[in-house]
Amino acid sequence: MADPSSFASPSCCLTRHLYLRCRVDFGARALRGAAAFTARAEREALRCLVLDTKDLQVFKVTVNGQDAKFVFGEKHPFKGTPLEITLPFELRRGQEAIVEISFESSPKSSALQWFSPEQTSGKKHPFLFSQCQATHCRAILPCQDTPAVKLTYYAEVPIPCYLIALVVGALESRKIGPRTLVWAEKELVDKSAYEFAEAEAMLKTAEDLAGPYIWGQYDLLVLPPSFPYGGMENPCLTFVTPTLLAGDRSLSNVIAHEISHSWTGNLVTNKTWEHFWLNEGHTVYLERRIGGRLFGEQFRHFQALGGWRDLQNTINTLGDKNPVTNLIPNLNEVDPDVAYSSVPYEKGFALLFYLEQLLGGPDVFIGFLKAYIQQFAYKSIVTEDWKKFLYSYFKDKVDVLDKVDWNLWFHAPGMPPVKPTYDMTLANACVALSQRWIKAKESDLGSFSSADLKEMSSHQLIEFLALLLLEAPLPVSHVQRMQQVYDFNAINNSEIRFRWLRLCIKSKWEEAIPLALKMATDQGRMKFTRPLFRDLYSFDKCRDLAVKTFLEHRASMHPVTSMLVGKDLKQDQ
Ligand code: BES
Ligand code: ZN
Repeated sequence: MADPSSFASPSCCLTRHLYLRCRVDFGARALRGAAAFTARAEREALRCLVLDTKDLQVFKVTVNGQDAKFVFGEKHPFKGTPLEITLPFELRRGQEAIVEISFESSPKSSALQWFSPEQTSGKKHPFLFSQCQATHCRAILPCQDTPAVKLTYYAEVPIPCYLIALVVGALESRKIGPRTLVWAEKELVDKSAYEFAEAEAMLKTAEDLAGPYIWGQYDLLVLPPSFPYGGMENPCLTFVTPTLLAGDRSLSNVIAHEISHSWTGNLVTNKTWEHFWLNEGHTVYLERRIGGRLFGEQFRHFQALGGWRDLQNTINTLGDKNPVTNLIPNLNEVDPDVAYSSVPYEKGFALLFYLEQLLGGPDVFIGFLKAYIQQFAYKSIVTEDWKKFLYSYFKDKVDVLDKVDWNLWFHAPGMPPVKPTYDMTLANACVALSQRWIKAKESDLGSFSSADLKEMSSHQLIEFLALLLLEAPLPVSHVQRMQQVYDFNAINNSEIRFRWLRLCIKSKWEEAIPLALKMATDQGRMKFTRPLFRDLYSFDKCRDLAVKTFLEHRASMHPVTSMLVGKDLKQDQ
């Protein structure tokens, strides 16, 4: 089983341990140091080890202290450059050697974002953070950059290298639970401590659902606004975007999500990025089970239905024949960052939610999930391993399982072949209000008032706007009236603001252009920034301004965000 996203061949030689020593040079925007791997030959007469690199310089390689020859292969547009090391002596199968590589990263490393003091909240100290998932660890240090390989570092728990993480900055912490500190620049640390106070309750619930938390500490780190994801489950220290700081804990499902990765993802890991749904689908499932325990089963169904609608939005955008909408996409010559979407999350979740309903409900299904985690903890697996275990766990229900159209679920593009059933209690108000707006004629607009929203939670507002987006564009008169009666422009909750501004731009409301450009550049979470830029680009009135704004900001954007928005706005080949 080869990993199409890596040049390494762990079936010949396996890196088992990493001893990393390095220094951060803010002046040169480089990481410089030595990576010493304990490598084990997996076959006889081994003379060669291939590592992944991307934009790295390599100065010296030694094997058990002896100089070794090394040569770079051909540079690939997104996979980087293979580093071929010739061992100075042969290794027998099972024999280990210490391979030490002196290296330096590039100022344009796709794994790192560098900040000058002026770009931070405190304005005094520089800042650096890393983001290795999916295939950027190779842009920090030479490594076998595949989730199939787990290694120890400093003799702790083995992790795949996409979970290596680094942050350097002037950070402060607040204790919010017995095993949890929140870290941030001091301007944001108290707000963050309030926002994420539910972490311990979520951890306890997750342990009850999935088994013991093995990582000891669970800290949270709030990054600068350019952090490209909502959250990243780096072991012991989850990285999160400051766009979660809504002030009312309403976006804490992202914390439940990253906590859940402590089991699905960090213990049981996808073997290649083609099986990413194993990481994300199970994690969304656990995230929503935590939400269900803390806020009720109706809320879980509401979130699940929101996920189905999210999937619909994504498939409308990508096209229902697009092969990246397969649950298991083919990533040969496809960059995992380019293939990334909500599909593995929501199609994966829909499959698990459907199976839950088919196999006897939530209590029965959590038994399976716990056993699955136990079975595959510390391993990297593919979908076939998961399916085999499912059949063995439910050996009395094989007839039920055989009714599932596995081929369509796994290998067909577009929406899943079956829609699970959802409790509609919390969704009904969102559907009803969105339908009123969709059906309203110009002459009906007077019937709307701020009272429409009186009973709605912020989660329901998000869903209401998401439903309108599915039907967009609305006539511009409608969004103008909506602003008049609901004043969405005044809302800072990032999930609400994002959908509202998209709706306005899709309706071609010119007054929203500066607001949408501001949101697209004030923060860099790709889930927000990419669709906002894409919508602005599709609006002929502001296409040029969108491109100009992007080009002005590009140099200070995260390297991956800059690459993807560059493609979205057709600025790169
Ligand atoms: N591990 C992912 C983020 C990621 C995926 C980074 C692929 C790089 C490559 C993280 O756990 C995640 O899924 N975050 C979501 C949270 C949401 C689903 C609750 C996000 O960023 O929005
Ligand atoms: Zn995730």
